[in-house]
Amino acid sequence: MNNSIVKGFSKLSKKAKIEWIANKYLKGDDSCIDLLKSYWHSDKKIQKIHDEFIENTITNFYIPFGIAPNFLINNEIFCVPMAIEESSVVAAAAKNATFWFSRGGFKAEVISTTKIGHVHFAWYGKYETLKMFFDEIKEKFISGTNKLTSNMRKRGGGVLDIQLINKTDLEPNYYQLSAKFETCEAMGANFINSILEEFSKILQNELASSSLSENDKKIVIIMCILSNYTPECLVKAEVQCHINELTEGTNMSPKEFALKFEQAIHVANIEPYRATTHNKGIFNGIDAVVIATGNDFRAIEACGHTYASRDGQYRSLTKVNVLNDIFNFSIEIPLALGTIGGLTSLHPMVKFAHKLLGNPNSQQLMKIIASVGLAQNFGAIRSLVTTGIQKGHMKMHLLNILNQLGASEEEKATIKAYFSDKVVAHKDVVNYFHYIREKSFK
Ligand code: MEV
Repeated sequence: MNNSIVKGFSKLSKKAKIEWIANKYLKGDDSCIDLLKSYWHSDKKIQKIHDEFIENTITNFYIPFGIAPNFLINNEIFCVPMAIEESSVVAAAAKNATFWFSRGGFKAEVISTTKIGHVHFAWYGKYETLKMFFDEIKEKFISGTNKLTSNMRKRGGGVLDIQLINKTDLEPNYYQLSAKFETCEAMGANFINSILEEFSKILQNELASSSLSENDKKIVIIMCILSNYTPECLVKAEVQCHINELTEGTNMSPKEFALKFEQAIHVANIEPYRATTHNKGIFNGIDAVVIATGNDFRAIEACGHTYASRDGQYRSLTKVNVLNDIFNFSIEIPLALGTIGGLTSLHPMVKFAHKLLGNPNSQQLMKIIASVGLAQNFGAIRSLVTTGIQKGHMKMHLLNILNQLGASEEEKATIKAYFSDKVVAHKDVVNYFHYIREKSFK
């Protein structure tokens, strides 16, 4: 392999980039080039949109886009779009949406929608001096950003508050301007970051033109950035039914099921090893809808995990409560989502996903996504405390194994029928596949 650095790569055409990697890394293998090209969209205009999302695009990377129908949320029925590669996720979402459909569905409410960002800076005088100075100029942060916030204010959003925070107990000379925002239908990252950068300039200018001592005028702006931790952009979703309605398809008594379910949630609350997998299952559903609707799943996950650790230990994002034989299962999770801006007006499939959901506003989308996370977790716990997870999981994974083995459609049908009443294990599938192949050649 040639180890010399490549310069100006981003400026090459897509064709030249592909030729470059083919020569440098793929020994000029034409089949690789054909593969990359085969994933280009046939409509050049659509391909161009994808090319321009990121730098150095050479092709597209498909993940399946599925739908989970029958989500009854606050008495409205949704068919939820999900983009995900894991075989059992959409099946579980659809199954559990249907399960709760006939038990009143999901009830969801948005608790708050505030977002937050910081100017992190170092200052070298006495805190009291800075505090007095900040209180004197506080209004200037709002008036000085009026132009930038005018459109957002027209939509009902803007800067809600700005505070000076003393962080010198953590790090000498470290302070923050901590600002809260309402960004309405937008996720708001660009809006928030622009305002924060403006705040830092206002702070610097006000200090420079103040009558403070030369030492007190000294400031180092470390950085200006929104926080993806948005505990005040919070949604709750819940389901509820009598325990007698929970055990359909299981051979457990309602009390036994409810107790085991409670124990499973308790384990996820007290044991971070389990909590991580538990919450991962929740994000299986959440991320899939977040991706399909063009939102930032890394931000959503990072925030959810921080929220899960808010009391100092990483815990379950869901809660269960069984009182007088009424089973109540809920999730409370921060979800900073946008329904305008970003990919939402650019990516044709994202636009389709929003349309399929009836073009929800950001609060409606928060409720839908929290409900999907709850459904996913209910399904996982239900399987874990009854049949075990592998039964359903491997059933869905069977097709992947058969595709890896290169099974024909006829072989797939035979093998699927054979395993319809058996637990699917990888080794058994491989053995049975070879068995029927050999038999057909005899
Ligand atoms: C698999 O992707 C997710 C689960 O492991 C979640 C869980 O254990 O709760 C099934």
